[in-house]
This record gives sequence, structure tokens and C-alpha cells, in this order.
Amino acid sequence: MILVTGGAGFIGSHTCVELLNKDHEIVIADNLVNSKIASVEAIKQITGKSCLFYELDINDEDGLRALFRSHDITSVIHFAGLKSVGESCKFPHRYYSNNVGGTLTLLKIMREFSCKSMVFSSSATVYGRDNDPPFTESMPTSATNPYGWTKVIQEQILVDQAKADPEMRIALLRYFNPVGAHPSGLIGEDPVGIPNNLVPYICKVALGRLPYLNVYGNDYDTVDGTGVRDYIHVVDLAKGHIEAMKYLDNNRGVLTVNLGTGIGYSVLELVDAYSRASGKEIPVRFMPRRSGDIATSYANAEKACELLGWKAELGIEDMCRDSWNYAQKKM
Ligand code: NAD
Ligand code: WQD
Repeated sequence: MILVTGGAGFIGSHTCVELLNKDHEIVIADNLVNSKIASVEAIKQITGKSCLFYELDINDEDGLRALFRSHDITSVIHFAGLKSVGESCKFPHRYYSNNVGGTLTLLKIMREFSCKSMVFSSSATVYGRDNDPPFTESMPTSATNPYGWTKVIQEQILVDQAKADPEMRIALLRYFNPVGAHPSGLIGEDPVGIPNNLVPYICKVALGRLPYLNVYGNDYDTVDGTGVRDYIHVVDLAKGHIEAMKYLDNNRGVLTVNLGTGIGYSVLELVDAYSRASGKEIPVRFMPRRSGDIATSYANAEKACELLGWKAELGIEDMCRDSWNYAQKKM
């Protein structure tokens, strides 16, 4: 049985759907700090399959131990973590404690039960600001904020753990910018309050709930001066986890791999695509650069293709269409 921590969240719920579609048995552990139980119901509705759910904090050592005692967990897909960059700057201790502390607790319990396989949600944020895109997995890592450092540190912990135990199998998946939603419109991303990330913000503007999009910076050295990112459809991303798990079945040690499309779009290009998909005007207002942002981020996506046989299939139109479908149904 596969343990999915953070499986009620945005990327986790889409991955649970793909796992169930492939007939894997799963148990979700999520404390619902940034998700709702409704997404677990939606996972069941989409797949027509059942899955177990525990409302559990991965920092709760005894709770995790009880879960491992009740189920034969052979591998873990570890999504659970806090992910707001701005919040991490205000409350760094909360981020280190939840993300790094949670991973340490999880590893401890995995060791107790001889569970040796983990797929970990890392992030393109670990490329920091000193590398030139396209980002390749061998580049040095760093971060520009506490959230990013939690990812750098968690990667290091997992690498060291695998060095100490040659039987371990770890995949560090560096996601670029996940967007979109399941085509059913039943699961997607709906942050509480005013969104920080671009696509959820655009959704709210398209829905008429916010008047315009603030575009942070139009003087970058990019195609139109606005920031460029590698947006990846969350369903493609979810499928990458299935391929990473298959890879770990046959390979020990640490796999570090980018999950991106290899293509960058500017903020204005994305706004244009979203406007076409939704048929709504998205008014924009140019603002100063957002602190901590880099001009351009996109993946070298070759390693995932070579080692996992995985590449993103869905394009920006699909991302905008599915995001808009979800926004209209659920936001
Ligand atoms: P999300 O917030 O939707 O999902 C994370 C889930 O983890 C939530 O359901 C939350 O309730 C749960 N959680 C948080 N702390 C927990 C804890 N201590 N115990 C149990 N559950 C806990 O976020 P997401 O976008 O689905 O991200 C999933 C993972 O991918 C995170 O680790 C995130 O840092 C990473 N990631 C996300 C992005 C992105 O842009 N969405 C990019 C790169 C990496
Ligand atoms: C994208 C572009 C903004 C909002 C973040 C995290 C990263 C990763 C993914 C987890 C940038 C611009 C945004 C807005 C804007 N998460 N923008 N107006 O910053 O690339 O990545 O999410 O690991 O760690 O930092 O994503 O969606 O916030 O921004 O103009 O209201 O959109 O400046 O160029 P980012 P984003």
C-alpha cells in the first residue's frame, strides 16, 4: 500500500486519481491545514474507487506509527508541506518545523517499519537566483526565501539518508509551476483568501471577483518584460509521479529530476491564453517587481524523458481551459 502524505491537496489529489486509475492501493494522511475533505470525496467520485484517509499531522509521531502499524506501507509519496513563500518569510519557524520537522518524523517512522521508498515533492525554487535557465538537475542549489530553503534542506536530508542506507530509493521531483485542474472540474487549486500565485489570481479576475491582475515587473530581460515561467499541467505532473515510482521499483539510491515542460511563457502570454480560454477580459496593472522573483525559470526536461520515459503532453491551452472549467464549477 502507498502512503500519500498531503494527498488531499492540489497536486496530491491529482496524483491519487492517477494512482487509483492504475489500481494502486493508497492511504492518504493529511491534516487539512490547506485542503478540504471534499477533495478526498472527489478523488473517489472521479475514479469510482475507494481510498483510506487519515486526518493526521505528519509531525505526530505516534499517529504515524499507528498508521504504519495498521497498514503495510511499501512506499511513500510525500506532498505534505506548507508552500506559501510570503508566509514563510513571516513565519520561518513554522515552515522549518512543519516541512523539515515533518519529513524527519516521517523518515524516522519509515525506518522503524523498514519502508525504503519515497517520492518527494521538491521544487524548481531550489535553483535559486544564481543559475541560468534552462535549469538542469546538476546545477548547484540554493534559495531566496525560507520556503525554498526547506526544500533545499529536505533534499539534502534525503540524499544523506540514502547514502547511509544503500537500500533506500528516493525520487526528488523538482516541479516547475503546476497549474490547471482535473478535466472533470472536481479537483483543482482554490487557495484561501487573495491568491499569491499567478493562475489562481487570474481565475478570480476572470470570475469578476477581483478587478485586475497586478503584473509584478515589466522591465525584465524577457520577451515582453514580464516574468517567464515553465507552467505544467497538474495532470501531467501527477503522471510523472507514477513513472518515478516505477523507476524506484528498479533502482536504488537517489533520482533527482525536473518535472517541467521545458517551455517558458511570460505573464502577458499566459494572460492572453487565459483570456482566450475563458472568453473574459483580464485587465492588468503594471506594478514594481515582486521581491525574490527571478526573470526567467524553465526546465531542461530531458532527464525525465530519458530516465522515466515521461514528458508533459498538455499545453498552455489545456492548462487554461481546465483551470477555467474548475474555477466556474468550484471557486
Ligand atoms: P497543497 O497545500 O495543496 O497540498 C499540501 C497538502 O499538505 C495540503 O493538503 C495540506 O493540508 C497538507 N499538509 C501540510 N502540512 C501538513 C502536515 N504537517 N501534516 C499533514 N498534512 C499536511 O500544495 P500543493 O501545491 O499540492 O503542493 C504539494 C507539495 O508540492 C508541497 O510539498 C509543495 O511544497 C510542493 N510544490 C508545490 C508547488 C506548487 O506551485 N504548487 C511547486 C513546487 C513544489
Ligand atoms: C509566476 C509569475 C510573478 C502573481 C511560486 C513559488 C515556487 C513554486 C511555484 C512551490 C512571476 C508573476 C504572480 C501575480 C504576477 N512553489 N505574478 N502577478 O513565483 O514562479 O513560483 O510557485 O514550490 O517556489 O515561488 O509563481 O505563480 O507566484 O508567479 O505578475 O499576482 O507571475 O511575478 O513572474 P513563482 P507565481
